[in-house]
Amino acid sequence: MDAFKEYLEAMAAQLKDSQIHIEGLKRKESIMVAFTAVAEYSGAHGPFSMDRTLVYNKVITNIGDAYNSCSGIFSAPVAGLYYFTFFYHAGGQHPSKLFLMKNCETIVMTTDHKSSNDSADNGGNAAFLQLKEGDQVFVRLGANTHVWGSCQTNFSGFLVRHM
Ligand SMILES: *[C@@H]1O[C@H](CO)[C@@H](O)[C@H](O)[C@H]1NC(C)=O
Ligand SMILES: *[C@@H]1O[C@H](CO)[C@@H](O)[C@H](O)[C@H]1NC(C)=O
Repeated sequence: MDAFKEYLEAMAAQLKDSQIHIEGLKRKESIMVAFTAVAEYSGAHGPFSMDRTLVYNKVITNIGDAYNSCSGIFSAPVAGLYYFTFFYHAGGQHPSKLFLMKNCETIVMTTDHKSSNDSADNGGNAAFLQLKEGDQVFVRLGANTHVWGSCQTNFSGFLVRHM
């Protein structure tokens, strides 16, 4: 009888451990992170004499609140695989140069030369990034270059899967 009681107690403890584990997995699985923000400036934004973070100041979507529209910086709330895109629109009076940054590392860029005979340009780039919790992702506007402040100059990202 004692042995049977011990067996039942062991089973009950195991069941409880499994339930705690499942609750933890469910919590992680339910984390959603997705944002889109646009650079809403009147007309040309730049050129500036130094590189600077491009602040996409108008938020369209910010599930999980990981994008900061005052600083322009996205901070990963959980470790995982993320996907980012950025597009821009600009006139030909100045070059355009944008860098997608992970902390202080340049990941991908998009550029266009100054030209007098094409009045407007669009460009962009995208990347999958494996991030640790707290890693920062943002777009830098290169020195002496510009973009056009409109919804065609935008930055989006989402958590594909936590890892
Ligand atoms: C635009 O200007 C560049 C030089 O600035 C020239 O090489 C190119 O052929 C021109 N394109 C057109 C469509 O006129
Ligand atoms: C982002 O910009 C691209 C091209 O510049 C445009 O096609 C797209 O519609 C824009 N997205 C949003 C959400 O405004």
